[in-house]
Amino acid sequence: MPVAASTAAEGTVEVGTADPAGRVLERATSAGAFDGVLLTGILELARRAATRYFGSWARRPRRASKRARLWVTLVAVTGIATPILGCDGAGEKAGVEAEAPPDGATQQASLKPAPIPEAGPLGQPRSLHQVGAPADATRAAIPPDNPQTPEKIALGQKLFFDGRLSADGTVACSSCHDPARAFTDGRPTSIGINGRVGQRNAPTVLNALYNKTQFWDGRANTLEQQAALSIVNPNEMGQPNLEAAVARIAAIGEYRQAFQGVFGRAPNGPDLLRAIASYERTRQSPPSGPARRRPPCRSS
Ligand code: HEC
Repeated sequence: MPVAASTAAEGTVEVGTADPAGRVLERATSAGAFDGVLLTGILELARRAATRYFGSWARRPRRASKRARLWVTLVAVTGIATPILGCDGAGEKAGVEAEAPPDGATQQASLKPAPIPEAGPLGQPRSLHQVGAPADATRAAIPPDNPQTPEKIALGQKLFFDGRLSADGTVACSSCHDPARAFTDGRPTSIGINGRVGQRNAPTVLNALYNKTQFWDGRANTLEQQAALSIVNPNEMGQPNLEAAVARIAAIGEYRQAFQGVFGRAPNGPDLLRAIASYERTRQSPPSGPARRRPPCRSS
């Protein structure tokens, strides 16, 4: 068996052969090296002590009886050292266990949805007229049936950051598309309601208005279609259907007023998606440093 052969060759203890993963083997090897150093030190101390108590017999090798006494001393010291080394080994093991990955309970606790991120300065709509903004491309990305208006964008922004769109009120679009994290969540895969972990990484919403299709697999054609799928995804906002989300929003007076003002009718699914998409169409990545510093071009 190759494991046993290498164990013997390295001169480590046989216990190593019992672990097919080789982990015990590795520990035994390093512990063995450490023990060796310690033992050499102890032997040296014993030699010095013996020299002091028994005189300079070490330089007189013919006195065999005293040499025998030294051996007895060494055996005794080694006998005392072995349990000490054993304790030391146990301490090392405890250290390794302390660094072990958290158990299931700890991991579950960390999957609670985080507080819903607010818009903040980074979440405010951006003007089309700012220096460096690709105004033409942005205009081209706005569908004729959903023109941008400041009131609609403001309604969309409110919805984007509102947990009440989710089944249990704990998750908003911004939970996974946080302005402070460039409209992502900074996680390998996202956490939705009830700590449910999705299977995909949340892409940024910045510049999503220019995408030909939405999602990693392009399964939504527009931002309006995309928003509906987030709301009903069981790993994200977990609503049974879009109507359930609308009912929740329609129960809030402030929203009823806003929908009336923007669309001239009560809250409904298509308008809710239009408002969210309008807000998203104000989300472009900020201009890079040089573009920000460059003064506006003058036509002469
Ligand atoms: C629980 C986390 C989570 C929540 C909540 C969430 N998303 Fe997402 N979002 C994702 C993930 C993950 C993807 C990628 C999924 C895929 O490709 O299948 C995604 C994809 C997107 C995309 C596509 C971007 C691209 O480049 O393809 C947009 C746009 C988007 N989300 C907007 C929203 C909006 C609007 C809401 C709220 C209505 C929302 N998301 C709620 C996690 C989330």
